[in-house]
Amino acid sequence: MREIPFGRPIIHDEEKKEVLDALSGHILTHGPRVRKFEKSFTDFVGGGHSLAVASCTAALHLAYFYLGTGPGDEVIVPAQTHTATAHAVELWGGKPVFIDSEMETGNIDIDLIENSITVNTKAISVVHYLGMPVDMKKIRIIAKRHNLFVVEDCALAIGSYFNDIHAGLHGDVGCFSFYPVKHMTTGEGGMLVTKHKEIAEKINRQRAFGIDRQITERKVPGVYDIGMLGFNYRMSEIQAALGIEQLKTFEWFFKNS
Ligand SMILES: Cc1ncc(COP(=O)(O)O)c(C=O)c1O
Repeated sequence: MREIPFGRPIIHDEEKKEVLDALSGHILTHGPRVRKFEKSFTDFVGGGHSLAVASCTAALHLAYFYLGTGPGDEVIVPAQTHTATAHAVELWGGKPVFIDSEMETGNIDIDLIENSITVNTKAISVVHYLGMPVDMKKIRIIAKRHNLFVVEDCALAIGSYFNDIHAGLHGDVGCFSFYPVKHMTTGEGGMLVTKHKEIAEKINRQRAFGIDRQITERKVPGVYDIGMLGFNYRMSEIQAALGIEQLKTFEWFFKNS
């Protein structure tokens, strides 16, 4: 009997070499490789701002943190997804309101969304299930009508486009996963993308303790301020080294896997 492996990662010699180079340097986290990976990812998806983070779950958690989600708030969530899509809402005390899927795509049934919107609804979360893009034009119309934030869970959607725009750049934020079974991996890791500069600037701080100046931005070493609450959801240089090289092989992987 033929065995089909469940998303086995393929790591080439070039990726291994870059990881070893990262280990030989003295900057092991949130350094130049992370910035280079973010720039490459922005180029790959075709615009917006990219923030490398610890996982897709971290990216989703940051999205609802930015939004100020709390007890009493509701978020529309597809019923068919990974548990992280809903946990990210519940971790802030919010309530995921599950919507059934379409038979044809496995994606959220857009026709069922508006019946579930209440005065407490803050956001719509969509998942491009197995990379099949959700009709983001319809989602944006609903979001605009009810003044809702849109979170795209793109954990499975790298390389997925709707109307020639990459997944993640239709809504307010898009959250990608680089877990080993995905199309590309950094071991663990994720990327938050957004087309909004002000969202990128705030989440950039929130992913790193709320610190207002990274090492390279400080005039006096060790002098910085904490203007807001924040996590440590940063990506390491070792992960970024792997990510930069994996992204280069994405097209090849996509065609050959
Ligand atoms: C749809 C979806 N969202 C979120 C996640 C969580 O991703 P991560 O493991 O990077 O936190 C996954 C993981 O497979 C997923 O499939």
